Amino acid sequence: MHIPTLIARKREGEELSADEIGRLVNGYVSGDVADYQMSAFAMAVYFKGMSAVETAALTRAMIASGDVFDHPAGAAVVDKHSTGGIGDKVSLILAPLVACAGCRVPMVSGRGLGITGGTLDKLESIPGFRVGVSIEEADEILDQLGVVMMGQTDRFCPADKKLYALRDVTGTVPSIPLITASIMSKKMAETLDRLVLDVKYGTGAFMKTKADAEVLAAGMIAVGKEMGVEVFAVLNEMSEPTGRAVGNALEVIEALECLDGGGPDDLRNVVLDLSEKIAGIGRAELEKILDDGSARRKFDELVVIQGGKVEDLGRLAEIHKAPVIRDVVSENGGTVCGVDAGKIGQASLELGAGRAKATDPVDFAVGFDKLVKSGEPIVQGDVLVRVHARTEKDAEKASAAVLAAISIA
Ligand code: URA
Repeated sequence: MHIPTLIARKREGEELSADEIGRLVNGYVSGDVADYQMSAFAMAVYFKGMSAVETAALTRAMIASGDVFDHPAGAAVVDKHSTGGIGDKVSLILAPLVACAGCRVPMVSGRGLGITGGTLDKLESIPGFRVGVSIEEADEILDQLGVVMMGQTDRFCPADKKLYALRDVTGTVPSIPLITASIMSKKMAETLDRLVLDVKYGTGAFMKTKADAEVLAAGMIAVGKEMGVEVFAVLNEMSEPTGRAVGNALEVIEALECLDGGGPDDLRNVVLDLSEKIAGIGRAELEKILDDGSARRKFDELVVIQGGKVEDLGRLAEIHKAPVIRDVVSENGGTVCGVDAGKIGQASLELGAGRAKATDPVDFAVGFDKLVKSGEPIVQGDVLVRVHARTEKDAEKASAAVLAAISIA
């Protein structure tokens, strides 16, 4: 198969066969197809799209690039995945919560993508936490705790592992077929009974409009149905960050508050809305699991089994203390009428919380917390947000960016 011809055919909008897509994906994973060729292919898909048949073929090829889970009979196997947002630390709370409800949760997540944060980067801000567990180890953890949180590996969804990192740095993230195949390959390889998809739209999401989010949701539901999995999609607006913290360690700290029964209302609500769809128990029981400390205990156990220390959870702010921490105060009074998630995500990326190239490390310490929410009254001099930055210059730039993102009337 001549790869340049295949790329050119996609560039011209031709429909490729399942065999061609399968061979391309295999070639990419084995190294025969170069990163620059796959980047060009992803850009061609970004502009020309893929038919439903091509998207299903891409998803299948990506699943087949690695092993799949094989669970024992018994507990319902469930998971959640988000299409990506700002301040979205929901997975950190939902996974242990739903495991406490008696489900088995083999959660395979991704790293930061574009302006959006990634669950794996957040988890790695916990010193020692290993997201690179093998499928055998994941099975053992699941047998013991009912939940594991891990990334794609060289044996589990390797095609997504490579393509995800490539898309992040080549401007090819917001493509419906590529998002569909990326998410559904990971989720279908988990061998689930039920899956809930948190499909975001708005300035801080890859889908800018609700209509596009509906198309994405319908495509993912169709792939799930074809593979015998019950898939629910919840559309959530992402015009404002979730919660009050954006940035890796800062988001883990906020997730811990929620696991302790507190945290911002919007975060708790989205966790409960999504959990309700898959947990097999009602909202009141889920709330109880959050409030009585069970979900927090499960998270602590998970941290320990995956290499972290419970003591460090209470010290994350100290461990990842940014050199410059600055309050941004309001110059006038009024009511907050908007906090632009896209602008906050971009500012967080520029502070170093995300990547510019695939090999870049992320800075766990930087980002924002104490962010105001729409509808809150403000008087002159109130803190609108706290900036955590590596340098004074970065803090200066980020402060200006967040001020421009927050509207007060
Ligand atoms: N989450 C994923 O796993 N993949 C995407 O492409 C977008 C969000």
